[in-house]
Amino acid sequence: MDEQTKQNYIKAGRISAEALEYGKSLIKKGNSLLETTELIEKKIYELGGKPAFPVQISCNEIAAHFCIEEDDKTIFDEQVVSLDLGVHVDGAIGDNAYTIDLSGKYDDLVKAAQKALEESLKIINVGTELRQIGKVINETISSYGYNPVRNLSGHGLDLYGIHTNPTLPNIDNGDKTTLKKGMAFAVEPFATTGPGVVVEKGTPTVFMLEHKKPVRSPITREILKEIETCEGLPFAKRWLTRKFGAKANFALRELEQLGMLHQFPPLVEVNKGIVSQAEHSILIDDNGEVIVLTKI
Ligand code: CO
Repeated sequence: MDEQTKQNYIKAGRISAEALEYGKSLIKKGNSLLETTELIEKKIYELGGKPAFPVQISCNEIAAHFCIEEDDKTIFDEQVVSLDLGVHVDGAIGDNAYTIDLSGKYDDLVKAAQKALEESLKIINVGTELRQIGKVINETISSYGYNPVRNLSGHGLDLYGIHTNPTLPNIDNGDKTTLKKGMAFAVEPFATTGPGVVVEKGTPTVFMLEHKKPVRSPITREILKEIETCEGLPFAKRWLTRKFGAKANFALRELEQLGMLHQFPPLVEVNKGIVSQAEHSILIDDNGEVIVLTKI
């Protein structure tokens, strides 16, 4: 990895962490989810980064991939709120997440994911097997009396690639693949009061351009141009409706029909178990030094 790329990862990680801290300060009873989401996205730009994906604020049994729409009036009340955000600097990504319990009832659940992340960081090094990370996460979360979400996992980070290899499991899945120099990745434990499985549920509001095909309609072409500025990273329907109004819905439908989009519907715990999440991004540089990119 060249020095510039390494510095971009470090910068993206720092901005990501600062934006997360800022976001945490806004998650308070009475504040609106929509306004909070948009303030955080604005902050990312102000700090000199770009969103690597739309800011996600997933509540209660929603584990991930909830991204608010423009007309949603939800306010923070008694939810368990997971804030997950990523920042990129010239494609180098820092991804991190934190959960805040506004109900006052799930303090331990929040701690379980947080502690699992801390324990996994202790063993992360060149040569660590992926299964060992999953084992530590599972054991830590179980020691609090909760379950890890077994079909969600940490992931590799590539330039302009948010969910690449390797997959870092939240249980011991037997994968003996080892961590290597030059790898960037995110560790992402989820703890839940439920059985620990998520399913896709609800309407997707986050998409990614997956295949390029010729498009006829001028409206769709105009919106496709905007989507292409995301350089293959996920984008929010809200970003388009804010700018193009109803035309955006038309274009998204057409792009879907053409099979050009990957959709990310909300991921919901199968038994409506409450979910907490913690996440850091890590870079192992060419000298084998482990850098936690999103720790400030
Ligand atoms: Co992530």
